[in-house]
Amino acid sequence: MTVAPFDYRKYLAIKKRIDDASLNPEVWKQLAVFLHERQAGEPLQILEIGAGIGTMIQRLLEADLLKNATYTAIEVEPDFKNSAKKTLDRWCVQHKKVFTTNQEAWQVESGDADVQINWKTGDILKMVDDMPPATYDLIIGHAVIDLLPVPLLLPRILDRLKPGAAYYFSLNYTGKTVFEPPHPRDDDILRAYHHDMDWRFPELTWQASRTGLHLGEWLREAGHTVVATGESNWSLEGNDQTDNGPRDFIANILDTIEQALAGLQGVSDWVNERRSQLAAGELHYFAANQDYFGFTRKPYMATRR
Ligand SMILES: C[S@@+](CC[C@H](N)C(=O)[O-])C[C@H]1O[C@@H](n2cnc3c(N)ncnc32)[C@H](O)[C@@H]1O
Repeated sequence: MTVAPFDYRKYLAIKKRIDDASLNPEVWKQLAVFLHERQAGEPLQILEIGAGIGTMIQRLLEADLLKNATYTAIEVEPDFKNSAKKTLDRWCVQHKKVFTTNQEAWQVESGDADVQINWKTGDILKMVDDMPPATYDLIIGHAVIDLLPVPLLLPRILDRLKPGAAYYFSLNYTGKTVFEPPHPRDDDILRAYHHDMDWRFPELTWQASRTGLHLGEWLREAGHTVVATGESNWSLEGNDQTDNGPRDFIANILDTIEQALAGLQGVSDWVNERRSQLAAGELHYFAANQDYFGFTRKPYMATRR
């Protein structure tokens, strides 16, 4: 059994269906209710940060949740724009929707839906202060908030949404990973991996590796409302003979750990042993994540910072 080399776009495409099965249904339901109720008048203004190859747009279209919306997607990787365009084009052909593009925007149309997509390539940390104020009704951050400096970015971004706008922050890693069977180096390898995540922002006490654990408390303390929260864990077996997806996904996780910990004594031995177990169909991978849906504070609720 061979394992494909690391390809981030392929990883995100596989991750789409793994996430579909992992997303917390109660939190998703709150997002769905919001979207059902809020697309009757002017187009709903949606902002997604860290949009990858556009899989959340596809997921929302599949769930029939985008009817009358302008969807602004921000993604730092320039190459992902083309992947997103191709993926959405293919999806629209398969689902008998009309997909049109011009230099400014893409459009998805069908009998009862009209969605405009504005894809912007750039770093949200650099773009946030130039975002038009009080424009967006909903912000989405899927599998990205734990890569960002929450106390630096979220106050700036949430205060630029419409007052009382909704947020959906899904797949936030909580800091718990388990590989089975156990290995004597697991604890120190995973501790070093979490330390590496946290040290992306050395000026902050915020632990990015525990975003899923602390995000709700952070949101409440900043005056925002948490309507729903729940687990969205990944639990994958690498031994499916008919579907390479979980195996390739775990392989990419191992590559990520190896790259992050390059130079740490013994990490290559650990990763290689895990790769052998994966190839033999003997490796199980679990990672704990947490989803959140709620509303941003209205001005009269503003707290001093
Ligand atoms: C783990 S991926 C998730 C992508 C997508 N949300 C999904 O689940 O398929 C995180 C994405 O956020 C993007 N990203 C990370 N930091 C960013 C930043 N500062 N500004 C914009 N995008 C960013 C990465 O390039 C990557 O595509």
